[in-house]
Amino acid sequence: MADLKITALHKYYGGVHAVRGINLEIPAGEFTVLVGQSGCGKSTLLRTIAGLEELDKGSIEIGGEVVHHLPPRDRDIAMVFQNYALYPYMKVFDNIAFGLRSRKTPKAEIGPKVDRAAGMLGIHHLLDRYPRQLSGGQLQRVAIGRAIVRNARLYLFDEPLSNLDAQLRDEMRGEIKRLHQELGKTMIYVTHDQIEAMTMADRIVLMRDGVIEQAGAPLDLFERPATKYVAGFLGSPSMNFVEARLVAHGGGLGTLLDDGTALPLPPSRSEKLSGRIDQSVILGLRPEHMNRAHPGESRSGLAHYAATIELLQPTGSRTYATFKLGGTDVVAELQPHDVTQINQKIELSIDMNRAVLVDPSTEKVL
Ligand SMILES: Nc1ncnc2c1ncn2[C@@H]1O[C@H](COP(=O)(O)OP(=O)(O)O)[C@@H](O)[C@H]1O
Ligand SMILES: [Mg+2]
Repeated sequence: MADLKITALHKYYGGVHAVRGINLEIPAGEFTVLVGQSGCGKSTLLRTIAGLEELDKGSIEIGGEVVHHLPPRDRDIAMVFQNYALYPYMKVFDNIAFGLRSRKTPKAEIGPKVDRAAGMLGIHHLLDRYPRQLSGGQLQRVAIGRAIVRNARLYLFDEPLSNLDAQLRDEMRGEIKRLHQELGKTMIYVTHDQIEAMTMADRIVLMRDGVIEQAGAPLDLFERPATKYVAGFLGSPSMNFVEARLVAHGGGLGTLLDDGTALPLPPSRSEKLSGRIDQSVILGLRPEHMNRAHPGESRSGLAHYAATIELLQPTGSRTYATFKLGGTDVVAELQPHDVTQINQKIELSIDMNRAVLVDPSTEKVL
């Protein structure tokens, strides 16, 4: 049975239609990440699940029970907010214990529960301090402690790491994921950060303008995006998109670029797209699928292209090289010593097996 079931959910703020018909089922124990650009309705959806906002249409069930008419405290949900929302005049211990006390947990149980949560988060030594005496990372740990100390059915996180610096964020991502493995609870985590979504999720729900654009396992979405939007949203640097036309090429099909080059498509692709010959397409290529060509290399689906490198961005482990592919600036992810200077001409091999072809009128992946 789904732990959380959302059916045809709509939410308006006056004239703003923030959530526009969401259907979602989340199995027990799953770590789901709601991801999407700022303003797409993630927080609204989460707050509606929690009962902090009232829905306008649809239903929300938790564990098979309709809950959307219940006040937040009766929904068996614990939530962690971006701004921590701690009580400044309470010590850390009391902040964590607050939810237990307000739910009339027997006194003798409170100490051990707070201890256990503090132990999991490594904040034992902070229990006697006030929030103003803590760093951002410590505050966030306390906020998480306050949520997990309760034995809730569903845990909701709204961009809990956004206020932390990059290194701490990486560390906390790992910790939250580990926490999920230890607790085995159903968690819904909201972020605008696609890397956070990819690295943390059992399942990603990618939202756009109040609806779900696509949902699935991270690698499924990454490797089999349904739309241009999803293809471009996941991955860093982003997928490159180049306008092209499908043409007959070497017994199969190729994508003809503005500069007159045709990149051959592998036979399986050619067959599937044969009805679209002479039509426009958008060719989507991930930076990591364009590599320096090696002499003598010939594998089915590899297209060769002579690129003049215009910009180099070394990261240490990889170098991002910008060049024009059929008149459009694209980025390839090369090995650090593949290219050493700009204006250098190098032969690239493009893995057309991994290329994404998009219908320009519907923006759906073909
Ligand atoms: N309290 C509110 N009153 C009016 N409009 C709101 C309110 N909260 C959010 N919105 C609007 O609803 C849309 C979705 O917002 P939100 O759920 O906060 O997006 P996200 O969390 O994905 O950034 C946005 O257009 C936002 O401006
Ligand atoms: Mg938000």
